[in-house]
Amino acid sequence: MSLAAGAAVGPPPGMRVRLSSNESPFGPSPAAVAAASQALAEAHRYPDDASAALRAAIAAEEGVTPEQVAVGNGSAALLMDLIPERCAGQADAEVVAFERSFVVYRLAARNAGARYLEVATGGPAVGDRPGYQRDVEALLAAVTDRTRVVVVDNPANPTAAHVTDAALRHLADGLPDHVTLIVDEAYHHFATGQDGYARVGALGLDHPHLAVLTTFSKAYALAGLRVGALLGPAELVAATDGRRPRFNLTAPAQAAAIASLADTDHLAVTVEGTVAGRERLSAGLAALGVPHSAGLANFLTVELGTDAGPVVAAFAEHGIGVRALQPYGLHEQVRITVGTPEEVEAVLLAAASVLAEVPSRA
Ligand SMILES: Cc1ncc(COP(=O)(O)O)c(C=O)c1O
Repeated sequence: MSLAAGAAVGPPPGMRVRLSSNESPFGPSPAAVAAASQALAEAHRYPDDASAALRAAIAAEEGVTPEQVAVGNGSAALLMDLIPERCAGQADAEVVAFERSFVVYRLAARNAGARYLEVATGGPAVGDRPGYQRDVEALLAAVTDRTRVVVVDNPANPTAAHVTDAALRHLADGLPDHVTLIVDEAYHHFATGQDGYARVGALGLDHPHLAVLTTFSKAYALAGLRVGALLGPAELVAATDGRRPRFNLTAPAQAAAIASLADTDHLAVTVEGTVAGRERLSAGLAALGVPHSAGLANFLTVELGTDAGPVVAAFAEHGIGVRALQPYGLHEQVRITVGTPEEVEAVLLAAASVLAEVPSRA
């Protein structure tokens, strides 16, 4: 996998419909926008370095104490502190993840000076049978005395696969105590209660070093303000928090995140709209005979059976930005974020002509 990820991160310029970065098309809560605007008027003041009110609000939401919560500039920034923190002081430290996991795990392992090991998953989707299935037994088999971290995105980006509650329990039970298990729940709002998915917090798992990551970038639609949270034992949280830059979260970001947590109506509209859009997109692709993984997140992973480059370009000609996945070693796949109902229909309309020209389906 290429580490020159910069080129793959930004949205393609000039797209009418931006479905390449798993953003929420429903936008932030109006209450969050109002709170951020109000905070902006005080921009001459430093923000609360401890983000105390936000951490208290997250703790209340998650049923933990504020000491068990750290916040960062997105969960990506927290990973960049958490993984080096867990690998510190061990020259031959290893980080284990499933292949085609979220790219930041690899980058954080590199920052930690640790070896990054990937465990194989199942093959691509066939029809509407999802692909890239994950077997936690393979993760357990890869763990050695050198392993410091096992990290699982659940659901996974970009493959849309997930591990079930039973599998997660088996993983936590089987990991030795010297390993920290990180479960990245960036997309949990779109997944909970479906197909055996459960959040770590609901399972009462028994492992001394268990960390959960969440973000305000997806269901809360605050990707541009950069707010993520780490949940875990107070000691692990404090050690990770000790690595962050001072005043890391801006005051508008803190205010918007607090207001977002309170606006449960907006969250419900977003989650319901996303799940409905995911089902509609999946059904539309199935009707076109396009194999894909619909998954439990806010995107679909689509099998093209041909090089993705021209397909991405053809969607772009329709004004639709979708994500190529070459950095993940997936050369014949694209990832499409679930948009508004209108955007979903626009994708399906474009797909009918773009994908009809794909050689594997001609
Ligand atoms: C699995 C996963 N984890 C974490 C993130 C990072 O989110 P953020 O840094 O915006 O909180 C993403 C973003 O796409 C993701 O897909």
